[in-house]
Amino acid sequence: MTEAWDGLLLGAHLATLQGDAGYGAIEDGALGWRDGRLVFVGRRADLPGAPERLADMVVDAGGGWITPGLVDCHTHLVFAGDRAAEFEQRLQGASYEEIARSGGGIVSTVRAVREADEDTLLAQSLPRARALLCDGATTLEVKSGYGLELEGERRMLRAARRIAQSLGVEVRTTFLGAHALPPEYAGRADDYIGAVCDWLPRLHEEGLVDAVDAFAERIGFSIAQTRRVFEVARDLGLAVKLHADQLSDGGGAALAAEFGALSADHVEHTSPAGVAAMARSGTVAVLLPGAFHVLRETTLPPIAAFRAQGVAMAVATDCNPGTSPLLSLRQAMQLACTHFRLTPEEALRGATVNGARALGLDDRGVLRAGLRADFVHWDVARPAGLCYWLGGSLARAVYAGGQRLC
Ligand code: NIG
Ligand code: FE
Repeated sequence: MTEAWDGLLLGAHLATLQGDAGYGAIEDGALGWRDGRLVFVGRRADLPGAPERLADMVVDAGGGWITPGLVDCHTHLVFAGDRAAEFEQRLQGASYEEIARSGGGIVSTVRAVREADEDTLLAQSLPRARALLCDGATTLEVKSGYGLELEGERRMLRAARRIAQSLGVEVRTTFLGAHALPPEYAGRADDYIGAVCDWLPRLHEEGLVDAVDAFAERIGFSIAQTRRVFEVARDLGLAVKLHADQLSDGGGAALAAEFGALSADHVEHTSPAGVAAMARSGTVAVLLPGAFHVLRETTLPPIAAFRAQGVAMAVATDCNPGTSPLLSLRQAMQLACTHFRLTPEEALRGATVNGARALGLDDRGVLRAGLRADFVHWDVARPAGLCYWLGGSLARAVYAGGQRLC
């Protein structure tokens, strides 16, 4: 016999997500892995031998479903403090934009992050990352964007890298220097963008940047300013993503598409022309129903147009202290179904294979031999159960790279 597998999981059904549609379901499946990669994904009946002879460890799942490890492709989970007081202000009628314009919002988290050293940032962020992981997310994207000065942005990105080391979860970092205008640059947004363009190559050289993002919005940055940041990213060979058309249609999706962005995120107000541009460039639409829910938005993203034009849709938590204090990607899937009318299958694809695409990763998001051994064993009777239950803890076991992490 060839070298034994490290592990073999039996006694559950598999939602492999292989193929372009459906769950890629395999009833009474078996999943084998070695050296962090899947080596067998199929029916138990098709195993090439007796389980105990194939693998060093055989686990009987005892029912339930196995999916690929979830990919949370849009988070701001590294931050200090919280914004519960702002939540109360909004409940009394103040809007997110009004709060931002009066010096609160993102900038209030910037103040907290500037006061926090790297260890403090890590200590406050780890429980959030752990919550996401133990709810099934084996890959987390983490953005900077609350430092808004070189040292603060660097601290955030370093803390994000340390989350990966501490928890064993995969972390992809995104530089979001163009998130908001820090108070010391009031009235000088173009100068601030100049500083952001100057920091990016330095942080990249330190190995801290996997992708580049910006907030193109009335309360963020203009298309022209975003373009300057994207041009620097392109020169460095870095992929871009964009917070696009969240509160208004500013042409963000079209700009993202022009730069071949991995994703345009939020996209509630994206126009038909923006959708068409995304379809042409293969840019993923990242849906963030947590922010939509918390801000009590009413304009839905153009889901029907995304479907009609074949724009892949991802779903992410947007975990952040202002608009989406959401610590469960499965809950984001639930909200995507309820608010945006995604099918449970679309929501699961959005949190796995399309989430991976939104990060430019093709080695995960599907259960297939050769891909990473990232998978979750869920206590559900059918895959739709993942989107049906609100709250609870359905993940019985979470594996990343063949290691059990939860
Ligand atoms: O994705 N829109 C901008 N950025 C975040 C919110 C950040 C914050 O309010 O702290 C978002 O919703
Ligand atoms: Fe965001």
